[in-house]
Amino acid sequence: MAAPIPLTLVEAPPADRWQRRLTDLRISVVDRCNFRCPYCLPEDQYPEHHAFLDKQARLSFEEIERLARVFAGLGVRKLRLTGGEPLLRRDLPLLVSWLAQIPGIDDIALTTNGTLLPRLAAPLRQAGLGRITLSVDSLDPVIYRQLSGHRGEVAEVLAAIAAAEENGFGALKINSVVMRDINDAGVLDLVAHFRGTPHVLRFIEYMDVGTLNGWQRDRVVPTAELLARITARWPLEPVARLTRHDVAERYRFIDGGGEIGFISSVSAPFCGDCTRARLSADGKLYTCLFASEGYDLRALLRGGADDASLAAAIAQRWQARDDRYSERRAELRASGNDSRVEMFAIGG
Ligand code: GTP
Ligand code: 5AD
Ligand code: SF4
Ligand code: SF4
Repeated sequence: MAAPIPLTLVEAPPADRWQRRLTDLRISVVDRCNFRCPYCLPEDQYPEHHAFLDKQARLSFEEIERLARVFAGLGVRKLRLTGGEPLLRRDLPLLVSWLAQIPGIDDIALTTNGTLLPRLAAPLRQAGLGRITLSVDSLDPVIYRQLSGHRGEVAEVLAAIAAAEENGFGALKINSVVMRDINDAGVLDLVAHFRGTPHVLRFIEYMDVGTLNGWQRDRVVPTAELLARITARWPLEPVARLTRHDVAERYRFIDGGGEIGFISSVSAPFCGDCTRARLSADGKLYTCLFASEGYDLRALLRGGADDASLAAAIAQRWQARDDRYSERRAELRASGNDSRVEMFAIGG
């Protein structure tokens, strides 16, 4: 009888059932947030006493670093730190400095609402953070406040942008989720504000992530509609994606005013090139933003698994991956599939 194949044997890098490689890991470092954006963590669903993860439940920096190293061994080149609000995790620059030393990792980015950036931009830069993405849903103080669940001020996010600029984060990505009849009237103001800066504003179609944001399709403003409105004022031309794994369609202003992007996960899904895995703050691996379940890596870590077995488990999970939620949205929603992880638990 042939010898059994050892469980720890990994053929790196793994590809999933649709031949997608694993190149991107998004790490949620905390599930808490100091905002209550209605499209993510609506305040009426999460009263102040909601039980977020406690310290014991969250992966430690040592555990995150170890997993990131194992992921890098499987082909991951890009890390993005998310939350909740990742800057609420104490000593985040220390984690960044560890991640920056992992062989194979050539890009470390952060997605934040910016409130804590003025005091953290300098240590994050020093620690080796490469890029920052900030969320700015409106420049109107009243609407911005509303979209933060009455917790944030537009002046604070503008201060965060300034702090990032001063600390060498040259071209930021600015994410703006557009909801019809809530902030869509402010789209041209946002474009006018960021045109002519090195920052790239990206409009994101409101998605049905999680189950608690009360998603209604008629609140989605399709990219085609925004594109028509913007181009009527400032003509745009398409720019090729940098890599086919990029989520945003890119355009540039014909008059040289820079670039903007659109993330059209509802009207033009991009699952075919999805090379992203997500790690929740409690150590679950999600192979899709819309997954109902994660795979418990924390249990393996805390159960004493060595690096090779961790790698084998992750590779196996990735190879079994069949996710294409956004492409199958209509069919899956019609089938009553209603258990999806919440956005604040796994980051954007
Ligand atoms: P980089 O390529 O690292 O610059 O980042 P990115 O372009 O992936 O940007 P970011 O992480 O800011 O993603 C922007 C938004 O796109 C997220 O907040 C989500 O709303 C959406 N998004 C990102 N990845 C996915 C994905 O895999 N599936 C879907 N449906 N939406 C995604
Ligand atoms: N639809 C689209 N994008 C969302 N985000 C959070 N919830 C949603 C949603 N329902 C994104 C926002 C934010 C990032 C953290 O996650 O872009 O900037
Ligand atoms: Fe917090 Fe970001 Fe979710 Fe808003 S979108 S509630 S800032 S995690
Ligand atoms: Fe990837 Fe899932 Fe998003 Fe499709 S819906 S792009 S598979 S994360």
